[in-house]
Amino acid sequence: MPPEQCNVTPSDRPDLCDFQCNASFAAAKLYKRKPLDIASEVAERLENCTVAAPGFLNINVSNDLLTERLNAMAQDRRLGFPSVEAKTIVLDYGGPNVAKALHVGHLRSAVIGDALYKIAGFLGYRVISDIHLGDWGFPMGLVLAALQERGFKAGDELAPQTLNTIYPEAAARAKTDEVFQAEAKRITVELQQGNAEYFKIWKQIQSLSVADAKANYDALNVRDFDYWYGESDAQRYVPRTLEIFERRGLIRDDNGTKLVDIKLDSDKEPMPPVIVVKADGGEVYATTDLATILQRVEDWKPDACVYLTDNRQTLHFKQVFRAAKLAGIAPPDIDFTHIGFGTVNGADGKPYKTRDGGVMSLSTLIADVRAVLPDERVACAAIRIGELQNQPLKDYRFDVEKFCASEGKTGPYLQYTAVRIASVLAKADAPDAPNATINAPASDVERGLMLALERAGISLLKAWADKAPSAICDCLFDICARFNSFYAAQHILTCEDATQKASWLALLQLTREVIVTLLGVLGVDVPENM
Ligand code: ARG
Repeated sequence: MPPEQCNVTPSDRPDLCDFQCNASFAAAKLYKRKPLDIASEVAERLENCTVAAPGFLNINVSNDLLTERLNAMAQDRRLGFPSVEAKTIVLDYGGPNVAKALHVGHLRSAVIGDALYKIAGFLGYRVISDIHLGDWGFPMGLVLAALQERGFKAGDELAPQTLNTIYPEAAARAKTDEVFQAEAKRITVELQQGNAEYFKIWKQIQSLSVADAKANYDALNVRDFDYWYGESDAQRYVPRTLEIFERRGLIRDDNGTKLVDIKLDSDKEPMPPVIVVKADGGEVYATTDLATILQRVEDWKPDACVYLTDNRQTLHFKQVFRAAKLAGIAPPDIDFTHIGFGTVNGADGKPYKTRDGGVMSLSTLIADVRAVLPDERVACAAIRIGELQNQPLKDYRFDVEKFCASEGKTGPYLQYTAVRIASVLAKADAPDAPNATINAPASDVERGLMLALERAGISLLKAWADKAPSAICDCLFDICARFNSFYAAQHILTCEDATQKASWLALLQLTREVIVTLLGVLGVDVPENM
């Protein structure tokens, strides 16, 4: 049986055991035997392992092993994690659109993507981030057409707030005003064919938008992108991309529209053909993404590419990944993943809007949180942990009051726990204690904390495997809750037994380091005091 089907995971029933393994059920199917028999044979060969009907394996860790593991973690800056294979991962997230202010939907892509970047980097992968700006195509023509009408010339002053209104107005107008729409289309084509005046104005719009995106990302502690490439940068690769499809005989002409069929007989869900060139000669989102894959494969030779957008783009990415492999633009062994996430809702459970029903800009949302939590790092923690504790796929409610609270499953609570541990260590006034050996647990609450710390590594691996940082949030909340019970139960500072006290202080030190490290990969910094 393949090892990945034999996972040992933290127990769902901590009252019964520390870890569990449910592999007997899969093995039973494979070997055509009863799960209970298989489980019994495994348990006979292991220490501290029992069987529960109809075939679960309940595994306990001995106190000696647990203590040994924690001391090893304490001595290693990487908390004892094994190194992974040095694979190259391209992460495509952020993805704001030039000429439009970032809105609340862009929060998820930026924050989840940034956390995945930090997690993968910590695990030892070579990670490359590319923002893939939406900066080419019809929206650009709309904005240029609207500016042209106002008599705007390249080099004229362009106010940042113009961007907030000009695109929505132009997009709405193009729906009813055919003349305006035709003009915007004409300008789009001219821009794409290299019209110098339009290109200069487009550059101005782009740099304003990039500045706006950077300001938002800074406030959210999203690290600078390795590449700020946009759809426009992929255009150089479009002719070759189309040529590859042509050469392989993969293009079907349907009244001028060029299509690539990707459906397989085994498909259970609809798999429509990919449109690579529209009848009017214009390219489409998919063409740009295929060309971008060609560029990434040539420049970065990735082993895996991960894309983050909202889940309305799920089909688009399935189509693109399949077409890329079919044409051989991407080697067959590249692993493509699209993480499609749900909607950010307001307190009423409906998509988060401004009071008058408009689109909630990301900067407004950040300002709302900053009004409650003036410290930038704490506000950022509230937003990031509010976001990251959810499964990416699910919708969630952005509840400012709840996210900012100092109690409950919040960023400030996690930061505060780390600050509190630091202050206990400072009070203990025992600078060598952190280097002391951690003793075997003296109580159940202490053992509980030790187990939670030991699981930090598992949570990192799980977060990466599932591309869901929420596993790390769960682990952090567990550690903090267990630390608080432990600290309430043991009188550490007044303990008379010097060895015991030093061991506890060393455990506290390790607890803090684990919290700070896990928060670090989630992009949350811990202040000195709060
Ligand atoms: N600009 C797109 C949007 O706002 C996201 C881009 C995602 N990345 C990609 N390679 N298509 O929806």
